[in-house]
Amino acid sequence: MCGIVGYVGPRQALSILLQNLNLLTYRGYDSAGVVVSHNGTLYIEKTAGKVSALEALIGETEVEGHVGIGHTRWATHGPPTTLNAHPHTDCQGRIAVVHNGIIENYYVLRQELLSQGHKFTSETDTEVLAHLIEAYYQGDLGAAVRRAMQRVRGAMAMVVLHSGEPDKIVAAKLDTPPLIVGLGQRENFVASDIPALLKYTNKVYILEDGEVAEITRDGVRVSSFLERPSRRVYQKQVTVIEWTPDMAEQGSYAHYMLKEIHEQPTTIQDTLRGRLDEPARRVYLENFLSPQQVQNAHRITFVACGTAYHAALVAKYLFEQVLRIPTEVDVGSEYRYRYPIVENEDIVVAISQSGETADTIASAREAQSQGATIVAITNVVGSTISRMADAPLYIRAGPEIAVASTKAFVGQLIGIYLLLLYFGQFRRPQGSPALQQILAELPHLAAKAQRILDDTAPIERLAQEISRSKACFFIGRHLDEPIAREGSLKLKEISYIHSQGYAAGELKHGTLALMERETPVVALATQENLYEKMLSNIQEVLARSAPVIPLIQEHSSNLEVLPEPRIVIPRTNDYLAPVLSVIPLQLLAYYCAVALDRDVDQPRNLAKSVTVE
Ligand code: G6P
Repeated sequence: MCGIVGYVGPRQALSILLQNLNLLTYRGYDSAGVVVSHNGTLYIEKTAGKVSALEALIGETEVEGHVGIGHTRWATHGPPTTLNAHPHTDCQGRIAVVHNGIIENYYVLRQELLSQGHKFTSETDTEVLAHLIEAYYQGDLGAAVRRAMQRVRGAMAMVVLHSGEPDKIVAAKLDTPPLIVGLGQRENFVASDIPALLKYTNKVYILEDGEVAEITRDGVRVSSFLERPSRRVYQKQVTVIEWTPDMAEQGSYAHYMLKEIHEQPTTIQDTLRGRLDEPARRVYLENFLSPQQVQNAHRITFVACGTAYHAALVAKYLFEQVLRIPTEVDVGSEYRYRYPIVENEDIVVAISQSGETADTIASAREAQSQGATIVAITNVVGSTISRMADAPLYIRAGPEIAVASTKAFVGQLIGIYLLLLYFGQFRRPQGSPALQQILAELPHLAAKAQRILDDTAPIERLAQEISRSKACFFIGRHLDEPIAREGSLKLKEISYIHSQGYAAGELKHGTLALMERETPVVALATQENLYEKMLSNIQEVLARSAPVIPLIQEHSSNLEVLPEPRIVIPRTNDYLAPVLSVIPLQLLAYYCAVALDRDVDQPRNLAKSVTVE
């Protein structure tokens, strides 16, 4: 979390920094700040609040300067005040630093620097960096950064400039937080994520753990502070990004989230493109697991966080039911510390939109160190998880900007079906009815998703009602259960209405006590084999006066016992229903948040890419 940007080149830096920060606000929006270097002086402006507050503060001020760095913060150390906003400076105000991540030994370093006479003005861990670099500075910013980075522990990315070296910015990365250098024509950029670079270049260096990049308008020198001698400069490989600038734009949609919900039919098609050969009953995944790896796997473990975790729960039901492979699922923050039992032939699948979530990365590392083969289902080519994985599977959803994940979730589900079919072709070479049905139905899903999106008016009306509730529940069984959880997560994260997603059969063990007239219950009943059980659960809720909104496939039976209004999705194969049933729930959350006038794309206290524990 936190977004950092930097620019060196012939243009005025300030407007580029602000523009690029705006594209990174999804990473955190507690405070924002910039520094522009010009003729030996630093212009610094920062404030609590979003980049828009910073822009308002700067107003029409003319700021001359072609070199600068900027920051948008998700607070960790110290509250989100102007004083704690980045950039942070050294005692003489010549060095300015922006930083993403956590310096774990900051307290010890701070005490050491205080005892040397350094004066601190904020409560952040970041300020330690400014003073540490000051302590080591002897006329060469790159050298001082390398020495300072050898002292800090934790996981972080940082960018720094010095007023005495006015044509340079220096970027460094320790462990996982992402840092990308954008390579332009006689100008260069740095940013925490690709969308902030797309307008200027598609050629980038993706910095690795331990690297320092000294960036001037004419070039980028990369060295490693972990190696000795740490000043050895080496050639980095250029990565070419295939996303286009318009993919990261909001277009005519009121919010990024709405745009991304509407992009889901395209996500489904793009994720499947070139990978499915229905007549030949084959799935093609490039540079993927070997037949032996698939055949030898005794167990699959999925690790993920947030929305991606719900995709992983869907995977567990599918792999166990269809392929009878023992499958575990865990959230990254638990898996990494629970001393997991990993065997050599285990396959661990890390699911992550960004490919940068700290807990998911740490879990995959833990499993890899114990001998597991790592598959990554991710959206971002070149992300940390994609690079560490033995077999990456890209979901091709394009940049996802809204904090609440939508199209990436659908892309992850499609990735899971592809993985299931891929395993199926080596574990069940003779085929199975379930696999054949999935293979046959996948190509029709995009059109069915589009049908849901063609008429959102009923969901908008429903949202008006639900937005007045004090709490809302989502229930379902089997494959509907993770989607109930996802629908609930969407609602709470952007509307702030309390909500819970629950296994429908578990309600009677406690949660039923909460049911009353003001607590609507969205009841997913898309699974034929459990349909009647769901009807009973719905009756149990209705008997407690709570309004029930059933979510069913079209042409479902026993409609006379189901209350109205209902959410009806196009009929599909039950295994694939999650892809369709989540879409109205995303829309429901979206329109509730709009009705309550919430900040849909940047909900309070959250961030899109969680690069801290
Ligand atoms: C944050 C986001 C969620 C996302 C989760 C995992 O909490 O707000 O939308 O699902 O991180 O992110 P990942 O990039 O690993 O999928």
